[in-house]
Amino acid sequence: MSNHEVQPLLGQVATIVSAAINRARPELAGADPVVRRSEHADFQSNAALALAKRARTRPADLAGELTTALDYAEVIGSVELSGPGFLNITVPDHAVWGQVSARLASPRLGVGAPEEGRRTVIDYSAPNIAKEMHVGHLRTTIIGDSLARVLGFLGAEVIRQNHLGDWGTQFGMLIQYLDEHPDATWRHDELSGNTSAVSALDELYKTARKVFDADPAFADRSRQRVVALQSGEPATLARWKEIVAESEKAFHDIYHRLGVLLAPEDSVGESFYNPVLADTIAELVDAGIAVDSEGALVIFSEEVTGPEGNPVPLMVRKSDGGYGYDTTDLATIRYRIHDLKADRLLYVTDSRQALHFRLIFEAARRVGWLTDDIEAAHVPYGTVLGPDGRPFKTRAGGTVRLMDLLDDAVNRARAVVQEKDSGLDPAELDRIAEQAGIGAVKYADLSTSRTKDYAFDVDRMVSLTGNTGVYLQYAHTRVRSILRNAGDPEITIDPSVPLEPAERALALELDAYSTTLAEVGASLEPHRLCGYLYDLARDFTTFYEACPVLKAGEPVRGNRLALCQLTGRTLEHGLGLLGITAPDRM
Ligand code: ARG
Repeated sequence: MSNHEVQPLLGQVATIVSAAINRARPELAGADPVVRRSEHADFQSNAALALAKRARTRPADLAGELTTALDYAEVIGSVELSGPGFLNITVPDHAVWGQVSARLASPRLGVGAPEEGRRTVIDYSAPNIAKEMHVGHLRTTIIGDSLARVLGFLGAEVIRQNHLGDWGTQFGMLIQYLDEHPDATWRHDELSGNTSAVSALDELYKTARKVFDADPAFADRSRQRVVALQSGEPATLARWKEIVAESEKAFHDIYHRLGVLLAPEDSVGESFYNPVLADTIAELVDAGIAVDSEGALVIFSEEVTGPEGNPVPLMVRKSDGGYGYDTTDLATIRYRIHDLKADRLLYVTDSRQALHFRLIFEAARRVGWLTDDIEAAHVPYGTVLGPDGRPFKTRAGGTVRLMDLLDDAVNRARAVVQEKDSGLDPAELDRIAEQAGIGAVKYADLSTSRTKDYAFDVDRMVSLTGNTGVYLQYAHTRVRSILRNAGDPEITIDPSVPLEPAERALALELDAYSTTLAEVGASLEPHRLCGYLYDLARDFTTFYEACPVLKAGEPVRGNRLALCQLTGRTLEHGLGLLGITAPDRM
């Protein structure tokens, strides 16, 4: 248990109900106490209903036994039996205030470190060199980044891996084309305005592809270029490095604007594994897992069959001797386990890659790299749809450029903030519009259940009402403004003050922050944190409407300011874990 951990009331109550189960019915020791938040009291335990059958008694009777066996210490104020055998448990006011002060006193808001010591490799973003980053890459970047933040905060040792698509035969064609067209402009310092090197390369690649298809001589020269690249011919390699560097610069411009954690040193692209492909394959062949099939080397799945009942293969080596995406991912998982010594491997890619990762994990298990003590998970996400409900494309059917999309969101956020007319000077307005626009894009993505498709609808994203990033940022500024008006005082809580219902609801919600984060860490679902923050903001609104803060007399005023302070810090912190900035005013 880490230093600052504050056990949530829910956990404390659950521990006490568990002890009561042990005492009343030793044969049920260790059973789940089934404690939840409740509308009828602070918490409700359904243990009696769940266990009555095993206890060979009626739920109501078991509930009665448990009530008698409960230890009415600190956190159990009163217990009422209701319905067929529910225990409705109310916590005494002073214990609720105790939680608020303990969390306020902790720099970590009392959150523990359940992921401590877990070395977690997160593979995310991974755009392809010389290709425009598309909206799908936006999702992996935003989701992966938030998971990296949450898991890191919960104590995991996070290793970010940006598995850039920087290798493959397509580069032969592109390099050959650039070589034959020295006047083509594509380097960032040759380009004007908002065109990035990667956009320019993407265009040149499309042109090269057309030439390749039309001109057999060019196609031949391109193939030779692939050989030159693979054998490390210096001029070809130098050109390839330049293409990678220029593309990466464009990616990092986007990362910078998004404010994600990915740094250049996190880039470990496909090419990195090139030198170890042979060893990887040898291991798979020696183990008898990779087998010959019509001149190619494949791994047939023992778990997954295709439409005709045949086992689905992973392509280890193509019949022309080439290596592809599958080969690289086999080498990658081996490296992450053996060299990075991962306990947990996460791959944030779209859900269409589910089969690919299933096969990779299966192969890694069979060859003995992936053992039972290591968790490997594909963290899939749904497709980004346009406002028309179809996959998001430009009107011409092309890839929407991320920078344009972000510009658009920021401009609309600026209009929304300006409308409120809070007397911001132009520089402040620009800064806040940027934070609100970027935050809106991230929040819209993260608040949707990860595996669902979601529609990219900028107007809805920047709305001040509803479950949006801007709404939460705004809620945070309101809290900050109350505290500013109070002169940001040092706060002490008087635990003898009775709680109003709205104060109680807010305090219990604040107390549940650590539980929510632990759930996000286990389920890898950031939308749970979004939902929590939204509920918190609404509980705060209800509290603020029902309970005057600044006009209240002491000690009530101090206690209410404490609730404001903890709400403000929790909102700011939670938004931070989503990668969203919480401005002080907007
Ligand atoms: N570059 C791939 C894409 O754009 C994603 C790579 C994901 N990571 C991995 N280890 N396969 O779809």
